[in-house]
Formats: sequence, C-alpha cells, structure tokens
Amino acid sequence: MRRVYMDANATTPLLPEVMEAMRPYWMERFGNASSIHLHGQQARAAVDRARETLAEFFNCHAAEVVFNSGGTEGDNTAIFGLLRADDHFVTTSIEHSAILEAAQRLAGRGVETTFVAPAASGLIDLEEIRRALRPETRLISVMLANNETGVLQPVEEIGQIAREAGAFFHIDAVQGAGKVVIDVRRFGCHLCSISAHKMHGPKGIAAMFVRRGTPIEPLLVGGSHERRQRAGTENVPGIVGLAKAAELAMQSLDDGTIPRLAALRDRLEAGILRIPGTGVNGSQAQTMGAPGPAFGTWESTNPVVLVPEQSSKSNDCHPERVRHGGRVEGPASSSSHDNAGAPGPAVGTWESTNPVPRVANTTNIWFDQLEGEALVIALDLKGVAVSGGSACHSGATEPSHVLMAMGLDKTRARASLRFSLLKTATEADVDYVLQVVPEAVKRLRQLSPVAAGTAR
Ligand SMILES: Cc1ncc(COP(=O)(O)O)c(C=O)c1O
Repeated sequence: MRRVYMDANATTPLLPEVMEAMRPYWMERFGNASSIHLHGQQARAAVDRARETLAEFFNCHAAEVVFNSGGTEGDNTAIFGLLRADDHFVTTSIEHSAILEAAQRLAGRGVETTFVAPAASGLIDLEEIRRALRPETRLISVMLANNETGVLQPVEEIGQIAREAGAFFHIDAVQGAGKVVIDVRRFGCHLCSISAHKMHGPKGIAAMFVRRGTPIEPLLVGGSHERRQRAGTENVPGIVGLAKAAELAMQSLDDGTIPRLAALRDRLEAGILRIPGTGVNGSQAQTMGAPGPAFGTWESTNPVVLVPEQSSKSNDCHPERVRHGGRVEGPASSSSHDNAGAPGPAVGTWESTNPVPRVANTTNIWFDQLEGEALVIALDLKGVAVSGGSACHSGATEPSHVLMAMGLDKTRARASLRFSLLKTATEADVDYVLQVVPEAVKRLRQLSPVAAGTAR
C-alpha cells in the first residue's frame, strides 16, 4: 500500500544530509564541548560553526543564539525567564500549549495574562493586542505561524507595538521556521523559539534567539554552558543536525521549493473542497463585501483575561476552560466560509474574500457530518497520515482550542482535519490523497452518527 505522510506540522523526518552531518558526532567525534583536549575542541568547533549557521538563520549575532531542547523549552524560557509577580502578560488564545500552560502556571504566582482571541480567519487583530496592553505589561508572545491552520500572524507590526509599549516580545516561530524567512531584526522581537524536528532536523534539539541584554533568567542552572543561559552538556550531534537542517531550510526558501509546495497544497485543497459540505479553516478573512487591508479591519472579539486569584488550578491549557476562571468575554462571533451543498472548485468562488497569509504546506479543512478522528483513522488505514488537531492533543476528545477560538462550534471543530505537507511532497502524493479522501468521507458519512443526527 502506498504511504503518504501529510502531518509535517507534527514532525518531519531527517533529510539524508542531516543524518550524514550528525553521524561522526555520535561516535568518533563524541567529545564534550567543555573539555580542553582534542575531543573537546572538535566538539566545541562543531558547536561554534552551528551557532554561526543559526545566527544567519535568525539574522542575529552568534552570541544571541542559545541551544536548548525544543520549542517547548524555548516557549517556557521566554515566559518563566521574564515574568514575575505583578507583571502582566499578553498572548493569544491560539498559541501552543507550551505557552498557554506556562501562562496558566504563572497565574498561580501573581502574573496576570490576557489571551487575545483571533478573528474568524485565524488572524490576530493588532487593535486587540493594543487594547490588551497595560502599563505593567512586560511580555507579549505571539506565534509566527499557527500549527493547526498555518495562518501567519503580523509579527512585525506586533514588534512595533511592543517597542512602543516598552514590552518584551517573544515569537514562537516553531511552525514558521523553514517555511518563511525568519528575521528577528525585522520582526523586532527580543526572543524567538524554533525547533529542529519541524524542519527535517532531529527531535529534542532546538535554538532560541535571545536579543543581547534581554534580562532572562535561565530555566536550567548547573553549568556555564550557553553563556550561562542554559546549563547542561551540549547535545553536539543534535546541534550539528539542527544547523544542517537550518542551512537546508534557508536554501529551500530560495530555490522554488516553497511556491511548489504552495501549488501542491492549493491543488490538494481545491480537490478536497469538491466534496460537498467541506470548507477551509483559516484561509479567508471575512470582509463582508469590501476587501480591506490585510490586517485589523474585520470584527474581532474581546480578549480572555486570566487573573491570578481566579485562575483554575487545573492543568488544562484550553482557553475555553480558562474562561471559567477568569474575567471573560464571549467567544468569536463567526466561522469560516461554508460551501455545503456547493461542489466545485472552492478557491476563488466565495462571494467576497480576502486570503489571509498562510505557510505554504498547511491546510485545515472541515467536513460536515463526520467525526474528524474517524476520518484520521480511515485515512491511516489507506496509508495517509494526517492529524485531527495539533499533535499534542491527539487522542484527547476535546475539540481544538485553536478552531474553537476562531469561532467554530464543537461539532465543526471536531470534524476538521489538518493536512500538512512535507517539503518533499510530490504530485503523486497529492493525487493519492485526492483519491482516498472522497471515498473515505463518503463511506463514513453513510455510517456516521453525526450524519444520522444521533451524535451527542
Ligand atoms: C507552534 C508550536 N510551538 C511549540 C511547539 C513545541 O515544540 P517541541 O515539540 O520542539 O517542544 C510546537 C510543537 O508542535 C508547535 O507547533
């Protein structure tokens, strides 16, 4: 059976060049980069070279690159490293749980967080960020690209807002890295986290940009590694692999890979949208008859505020739940476009649309009258790997907090699937997926309790 992996936003395989670059550092060049003998010097030289590559990747100085274990560590470091009791934190309700749960934990330590909700398109409205600011706002954290919808946020403009407000700005660029150019100077951020395994590097290794002078407390102490910003013996093979992956990612931003990928994604999307009762989450802004500027014009929702003394003690990161503990306004008002009953190429057929920027490899599609989990399993049985939500939530029955924040109802959020293409995806992969998805949808709809009206 053919196998097509369309879950690149969960993780990606190593590229062969990455494997080859890492290989010597497991065995013959096994040294500890802190040792002064030859083995140590070899390891140190490899780490130094990797740091230079990452500096090019971020567009920063080598001394501003800190290696760590993953996007989760980078996100946690930004929050726990900067925020103290009585600080105010602004983030969004569509962040990864590495941000949301860190904010939740800090609520118990006297840090108040405002979660800005997105518009129905998945975009964060700049005015909402402005409105969330307070004199005591110390940190703003907004993701570059959303892991579920691929929607790109206006980080450059948010960087400007942070500058005007005198707040620190962190970007979770885990899902943007390798898909769009990362330029921390242009973004105007103080901190930026990426992760190797989302861009064909190894798991458990990552890097973070920390702007010189940013007063961040390390999460881990115990050694002078990484200029005292992250203690622990360096993962030299991982660091070498990350650097190779970053180098290849920079090349593929220049060599036509991204437009090719966007064309494949668009073909996949248009093909799936021929199925009646489907639509894309997070591809079109609602312009209500008058396409406007790219950001900030459509109706948006009020922020969710998590205040320390009222915060829920649970570990739950879902903003929906957070609402019960904090001062809260209502959910996003509207939803994505609906082409139910109108088969045909959907792209370009909406009455009035204004595409929002997305990374090239991702589409998130709802299917009326079925359970997303059932479709994920049916497709897996046909050799197609996709995701019914972000990977960290798979297996959970809760609908995606991202889609809910965009205003989808629970049924539609549960009936949504994320297709995220590897940069090595081919036309044949897309053809195969377009062959099996309509069949699987048809069969499941015939069996579906949702279709039969008997679902909870
Ligand atoms: C947007 C985003 N941030 C952070 C992370 C966590 O990264 P890691 O798996 O490297 O800890 C992920 C992983 O899915 C992600 O998608």
